[in-house]
Amino acid sequence: MTVPTGTIGFGAMRLADADIWHGPADRPAAIRLLRTVADLGVPLIDTADVYALGDNETLIAEALHPYPDGLMIASKAGETRPSPGEWVPVGNPAYLKQQAELSLRRLRADHIPLFYLHRVDPLVALEDQLGALVELRDAGKIGAIGLSEVSVEQLDAALRVTGIAAVQNAYNLGDRTHEPVLDRTAELGIAFVPFYPIAAAHPVVDGIAAELGATRAQVSLAWLLRRAPNILPIPGTTSEVHLKENLAATGLTLTGDQFDRLQSVAGG
Ligand SMILES: NC(=O)c1ccc[n+]([C@@H]2O[C@H](COP(=O)([O-])OP(=O)(O)OC[C@H]3O[C@@H](n4cnc5c(N)ncnc54)[C@H](OP(=O)(O)O)[C@@H]3O)[C@@H](O)[C@H]2O)c1
Repeated sequence: MTVPTGTIGFGAMRLADADIWHGPADRPAAIRLLRTVADLGVPLIDTADVYALGDNETLIAEALHPYPDGLMIASKAGETRPSPGEWVPVGNPAYLKQQAELSLRRLRADHIPLFYLHRVDPLVALEDQLGALVELRDAGKIGAIGLSEVSVEQLDAALRVTGIAAVQNAYNLGDRTHEPVLDRTAELGIAFVPFYPIAAAHPVVDGIAAELGATRAQVSLAWLLRRAPNILPIPGTTSEVHLKENLAATGLTLTGDQFDRLQSVAGG
C-alpha cells in the first residue's frame, strides 16, 4: 500500500482523555466517529502504541475491524509513558519489536501497513532502532517504515539504513520549524505527514477564511495541500462536524494571492 498524499487523513490520538492516558469518556461516540471516518473514505488513520496506553488501537479495532479495503492504519512505537505528563523515547530494538507485536494484537491485524519509529532514541544507535523495524518488515508484520519528529540529518542517516515512506513532524501555517524536512521529503518523494496541522488564530488566516466563506481549519489544511504535493495532514477531532469540515478542505482552492499572503503568517 502506498502512503496516500494530496488528501486528508485522520489522527485518532484525541479519542482519549485530555492527557491521552485513558480511553475516551464516551466510548460509543468515539466508535461512531471512527466509523464515520471510514464511511467518508478517509484513506489513513494514525495511531500509536502509547495513545491511551494502547487503548487507542483497541478502540480502532472495536470500531473498524475487519478494516475496509483502501483504509491504511498507521501506528508507531518508540515512545513510552511512565506517567501522564511524560513522553520518553525508548529505542531498544527488542522493545520496539515487542511493541509492534502488541499493536498487532490490539489492532487484531497480522500486518500494519505503515509503522513509524515514534522518536529517535538518542541513547540507541539509529541503525539498531531501524534494524528492528526492518526485521519486522522482512517478517511481513509491518509494511512501510516511517519516522517522526526528525531533522533532515536524521532522515538522511535513516535513508542510509533503509527506505523511508513517510515522515511525521509537527507543521502548520504558524509553525514552520520543519520547513527543511518538508522540502527534503518533497525532493525525495517521501510522504510528509504534518501533525498539529491546524494553525492558531491569526488575522491573515481568519481574513482569508472570511473571503472564502471557509473556516480557519479549512484554510490551514488547504494551504498545506497546496504547499507541496507529498503532504498528508492528519487533523484530529472528536467532532463529526469538525471531521466533515476538515475533509471539505480538499475542495477549497486558494488563489495565488491568498497563498502568498498566507506565506507571511510565519514570516515565510
Ligand atoms: N508523531 C507525533 O509525535 C504526534 C504528536 C501529536 C499528534 N500526532 C498525531 O497527529 C494527529 C493530529 O494532532 P492533534 O489531534 O493533536 O492536533 P490537531 O489535529 O492540530 O488539533 C486537534 C484539536 O483541534 C480541534 N479541531 C480539529 N478540527 C477542528 C475544526 N475543524 N475546527 C475547530 N477545531 C478543530 C480538536 O478539537 P475537537 O475535538 O473539538 O474538534 C482538537 O482539540 C493526532 O491525532 C495524532 O495521531 C502525532
